[in-house]
Amino acid sequence: MKPIKIKVNNQEIECPVIEGTENEHGINITQLRKKTGYITLDPGYANTGACISKITFIDGEKGILRYRGYPIEELAGKISFTETAYLLLNGELPSQDEKNQFSKSLRKNANIHEDMKRFFDGFPLNAHPMATLSSMVTALSAFHPDSESEDEEIINKNIINILAKVKTIAAYSYRKYNGLPFIYPNQDLNYVENFLHMMFSDSQEEYHADPVLVDALNLLLILHADHEQNCSTSTVRLAGSSKSNVFGAISSGISALWGPLHGGANQAVIEMLKTIKKDGNNYKKYIEYAKDKNSPFRLMGFGHRVYKNYDPRAKIIKKAADQVLTKLKINDPLLDLAKQLEEVALNDDYFVQRGLYPNVDFYSGIIYRAMGIPTNMFTVMFALGRLPGWLAHWKEMINSPDFKINRPRQIYTGPTKRSLK
Ligand code: SDX
Repeated sequence: MKPIKIKVNNQEIECPVIEGTENEHGINITQLRKKTGYITLDPGYANTGACISKITFIDGEKGILRYRGYPIEELAGKISFTETAYLLLNGELPSQDEKNQFSKSLRKNANIHEDMKRFFDGFPLNAHPMATLSSMVTALSAFHPDSESEDEEIINKNIINILAKVKTIAAYSYRKYNGLPFIYPNQDLNYVENFLHMMFSDSQEEYHADPVLVDALNLLLILHADHEQNCSTSTVRLAGSSKSNVFGAISSGISALWGPLHGGANQAVIEMLKTIKKDGNNYKKYIEYAKDKNSPFRLMGFGHRVYKNYDPRAKIIKKAADQVLTKLKINDPLLDLAKQLEEVALNDDYFVQRGLYPNVDFYSGIIYRAMGIPTNMFTVMFALGRLPGWLAHWKEMINSPDFKINRPRQIYTGPTKRSLK
């Protein structure tokens, strides 16, 4: 591609253009400040690419999402979450041997150090599970001090440790906050079955996860597995760029995901639906609130920085919510209310003109509820799904030929030089 000419202060510079495999174009401005003294300014980074990546492609206008080139519609419900994790981390789907080896490593490393169990006693019973999760993931670095190593084998071992242990930490926090005994991982179970076993097994009787729930959770984890440079993944890349250990980088991603504008939205959607239900199901009133610039109310689970069309994940989750509730013979009025909200919003100019459609968080909570997962654990479930994406981007970043510490610039508008005298 021909370079782009930029004229600043009567000075003309040439900036190379990067062309991606899906016809995206980026202007490489790495020489801009050196040659012109100018920087660019892009609050929220809506127009700024932070890196080159081969992991996930999103076309927000067309509602396209692909992991390593595979459309999400082809992966969801067809392969397992562990195969999806392997694909994101390694770039290809695993052979049968690779799949068996990967799955065996995850099962073997699902336990956490016995001393870590005492940490749960330090949290108040009303602690938010995302607080516990981010703290415990950082704490894992104390039990895996080799996480500073740049040795490929050790890096891959710690990636397995995080994938295997974080679901155990999530289940243990649920058990602790509900006054239930911890249930150890069972090496005979696959990733999803093991998580449900650790969450819901009863010490008195053998627990067999309902295949409907296993399939639904496998689907949800796949749909959440990666989403290119979203807020939490960019946070993992930025934190990891200082060469902080992988546990610390992932913990920073967990904290970024927690926010209600990001992964915390799945909890906020259910809380919003409960509020509307309590208010006589007066959903049209809340649509008006969402449109009112003077109201802080936003339609949670709606809108997206990149998708200005229907989020392809939301389409799949909406269909799955119907199927799961039908199979489990559950009638959840919040699902009907969510559909009514969607119907009104998608026929309202305010939402249509702004390209505001349901996103991944709008219907996911309906399925988590059907599984018996408490609302304050919904974002933990999002984090479990996003782990392979965070880890794949962290690994791509540390192995990048362009690797360097991330350090954005700014435009200073504070007081000019002054003196105490
Ligand atoms: C995720 O990036 C990713 O990929 C994230 C994610 C992933 O997989 O990692 O997809 C997961 O985080 C999904 C998003 C979950 N968040 C929510 O559902 C919270 C509600 N949504 C909004 O807060 C908002 O839509 C964001 C945060 C998602 C996107 O915000 P943007 O891109 O900064 O959009 P904006 O705030 O500039 O909004 C543009 C316009 C504004 O109105 P105008 O100033 O043009 O008049 O749309 C309006 C906004 O007021 N708007 C909404 C709205 N979202 C945007 N109005 C009412 N309700 C909403 N939900």
